Amino acid sequence: MAHKLFRKKTVEQIQRDTQHIGSGGLAKVLGVKDLVSLGIAAIVGAGIFSTIGLASYNGGPAVSLLFVFTAIACVFTALSYAQFASTVPVSGSAYTYAYVAFGEIFAWVIGWALILEYAVSNMVVAISWSEYFVSMLKGFGVNLPTWLTTSSEAAYEAYQKLQLNGPEALNTVEKIAANAYTYAPKLGHIPLIVNLPAGLITVLVTWLVYIGIKESRTASNIMVVLKISVVLLVIIGGAFYVKPENWTPFAPNGMKGILSGVASVFFAFIGFDSISTTAEECKNPQRDLPRSMIYCLLICTILYVLITLVLTGMVNYKELNVNDPLAFVFQSTGLNFMAGIISVSSVIAITSALLVFQLGQPRIWMTMSRDGLLWKKFSTIHPTYKTPAFATIIAGIVVTVPALFFKMDFFIDLTSVGTFFAFILVCGGVLYLDHKGISKQSKFRVPYINGKYLIGIGLLLALSGLYLYGDAILNEWRHLSPTEIIEHKSLTIVFWITWLVLAVLGYQHRFSILPVAGILVNLYLMTELGASNWIIFIGWLLIGLAIYFLYGYKHSRLNRGNKL
Ligand code: ALA
Repeated sequence: MAHKLFRKKTVEQIQRDTQHIGSGGLAKVLGVKDLVSLGIAAIVGAGIFSTIGLASYNGGPAVSLLFVFTAIACVFTALSYAQFASTVPVSGSAYTYAYVAFGEIFAWVIGWALILEYAVSNMVVAISWSEYFVSMLKGFGVNLPTWLTTSSEAAYEAYQKLQLNGPEALNTVEKIAANAYTYAPKLGHIPLIVNLPAGLITVLVTWLVYIGIKESRTASNIMVVLKISVVLLVIIGGAFYVKPENWTPFAPNGMKGILSGVASVFFAFIGFDSISTTAEECKNPQRDLPRSMIYCLLICTILYVLITLVLTGMVNYKELNVNDPLAFVFQSTGLNFMAGIISVSSVIAITSALLVFQLGQPRIWMTMSRDGLLWKKFSTIHPTYKTPAFATIIAGIVVTVPALFFKMDFFIDLTSVGTFFAFILVCGGVLYLDHKGISKQSKFRVPYINGKYLIGIGLLLALSGLYLYGDAILNEWRHLSPTEIIEHKSLTIVFWITWLVLAVLGYQHRFSILPVAGILVNLYLMTELGASNWIIFIGWLLIGLAIYFLYGYKHSRLNRGNKL
């Protein structure tokens, strides 16, 4: 059984399959410019337009450093993605890469985890879009009934709080939610409360993705130009209003405050990898995908760091706990006109993030279905539109329904855990390609720096640094009982053990430094997400494994002598 679980696809096999299936397949229309545009469309979205507010509030101006640190993790990962994308230029992204490197069961697990990165993150983006949309309409004097713009989960929670603690206990957002619960029309005893804009925008974007990649590309290109313009407007316009004294203290809540923003900051970077799902629609994927991924990551990192410095320089970080920080800073400087322009453009900008992930999810399912791990229907291509039609509709439903009824907080954390996990496996996969000599065929390679000694030396330096300068951290450990250590610190222990294992294996196999750094930085950031997220994530993986054993294990093409 074990050999079946770890059965692998070879690069040649995957390329042969794609050529065979590809003859009647997808339209090859994308070049570097389109890919960079799609990448930026995916990356710059709800993260930088919304969740950066709370991260800055907790971490102060020093959150800009968290952006740099997270960007470094993403660059290591992007290089690894780029190498895979140039070696295995098909639509499945990390899923396909894992099939080559680690075998079928890992591939399935990654494919399942990618649902968190694509579909679940899009629930956040749709909900964030709805918030901006509602406040934009308010700016034009249009007020939709609250029961049509609130999630039923938020309304129910706020109503419970109102009943228990009275109206004084509610903040403004909760008052609106409780109001939705009170005034909603009722079906029997059940109040009808939905976040209609979040649902409608997802349906609209799904339709666009359904009718064709060309149409999606044009829409995305237009939205990206607008999006970059808004971001530049904020940076350049805001720079004149920066008061350097707002940057002191730089890290008011210390490391803890900065790191509490990991999920939000990481969320803002998610998406550079999504362009690898369009590999079969690229004119020259092996050349263009690596370049595009690195270009768009560099552009976004520079923009993010600048925008964080501008936001925290324009107002005191304590004021930034808002849903629309980019517009807010201009409002509080008295520039209402600028704030208005930013609000309207944000609605359009966030739409493009939604578009790319709605484009990516069905393509991953399509590839999994071709491999027999998902039902055949998922790989049917629309005869006229040349898009994976059924998978696109299912992705639309999967995102629309939760976006109508739930709050976004839980989805942000879940997306981040799943994406870190996928990133770690992709970086690890490059080590496998190197080890097996497959990297020699790659048209793009992660630059090789021999890590035989360096990974171990790095570990010793990190431990010495902790011993010499990490008093605060070590003291915290000293005061914990063994049970508390297991409860709160097991993720940190996993991190150090992984580093040790990589040092030993790196010594034996001369591992390349950059993918190892990618694994470690991603894992470190993942440990900052907290145990409850990991537990939910593990639950998610178990459900996925159950589906695999009930369906994919038997129907896998590799189980059927590779027949289509
Ligand atoms: N990076 C994407 C966003 O911030 C997911 O919306």
